[in-house]
Amino acid sequence: MSRSFILSTGSCLPKKTLSNNEIALMVETSDEWIRQRTGITQRHIADEGELTSDLAVNAAENAIEKAQISVNEVGLIIVATTTPDKTFPSCATIVQSKLKCKNAFAFDVQAACSGFIYAVTIADSLIKANNRIKYALVIGAEIMSRIVDWKDRSTCVLFGDGAGAVVIKSAAHCNETTEHSTRGIMSANLYSDGNVDVLCTSGGISSTGDSGKICMNGREVFKCAVDKLTASIEETLKYNNLKIADIDWLIPHQANIRIIGAIVKKLGFSMEKVANTVDQHANTSAASIPLALDYAVQELKIKPGSLGLLIAIGAGLTWGSVLLRY
Ligand code: ACO
Repeated sequence: MSRSFILSTGSCLPKKTLSNNEIALMVETSDEWIRQRTGITQRHIADEGELTSDLAVNAAENAIEKAQISVNEVGLIIVATTTPDKTFPSCATIVQSKLKCKNAFAFDVQAACSGFIYAVTIADSLIKANNRIKYALVIGAEIMSRIVDWKDRSTCVLFGDGAGAVVIKSAAHCNETTEHSTRGIMSANLYSDGNVDVLCTSGGISSTGDSGKICMNGREVFKCAVDKLTASIEETLKYNNLKIADIDWLIPHQANIRIIGAIVKKLGFSMEKVANTVDQHANTSAASIPLALDYAVQELKIKPGSLGLLIAIGAGLTWGSVLLRY
């Protein structure tokens, strides 16, 4: 069976930033409280008129440019998002239209903050099942600021906007003697448990006719995140006959530095091998992992051939891990 691997990464963050001190002018909070409880210092906020598909297209163009491919070679586009431009058509088909990407099929994946790892796993499976796909574009894009209740201090401090993208290549379309021969998405485990009340929006299309605002039991989500992500990583290691020391880098969903720290401590992993963008980006939901991955590739100089883990948890609850050799 063929493999697929991440060929390139890209990202897009809105120009405007919102600091903790600026939020403290809107609700009763402080820079110190937000930094101590979450590790967040600022977040990027989309301008009025800026759409999720705009951020997604910029991130995609960035990844396509680095992959040095033509947009016409892309056979599949998946956008992971909970904040699409419209109820339909999908954000992915809007991205397809804006990119003038004629030879792809496109659809959205909605798995909240786990959307990107779900989408990467689906792209890998479709590439394995369909020899026609040479390149897949997988994007996580969100404008969380539009579904945040800006009067609720317990949630509004946590989220930000942005998009990250990867180009995934089918190894069936590579010369196996090239440097690509060891690269690949090695395994994934994905879960959901139907625990739908701890983290949700207050409305939706068929219930209230609008998107609703974010509601969350923060303590409960925190506990679930640590337990479920630790178990998911342990399962991935066992399945692949690896030890935690074999992992070169970890890209966790960027929700809270304390969640990340607790998982790393439980596993005996090193924080130095963990990408941390939550301080600058806050929680960008499905965009957080591709944004952190692009940051890690550029700033932490992730090497081709190194072994990495992507882990995420989000509303649903949905969660899981993807193991890959970059
Ligand atoms: N500023 C100041 N005080 C606040 C704020 C704020 N922004 N928000 C809540 N408080 C107060 C509360 O009212 C409470 O006051 P009280 O003791 O008088 O009742 C106190 O701070 C403690 O509140 P807790 O909710 O218990 O604080 P906690 O230490 O659990 O931190 C947080 C809250 C940061 C939300 C934490 O629970 C968390 O990170 N949970 C994970 C949830 C998460 O990251 N969700 C993101 C989406 S899901 C995902 O991506 C996995």
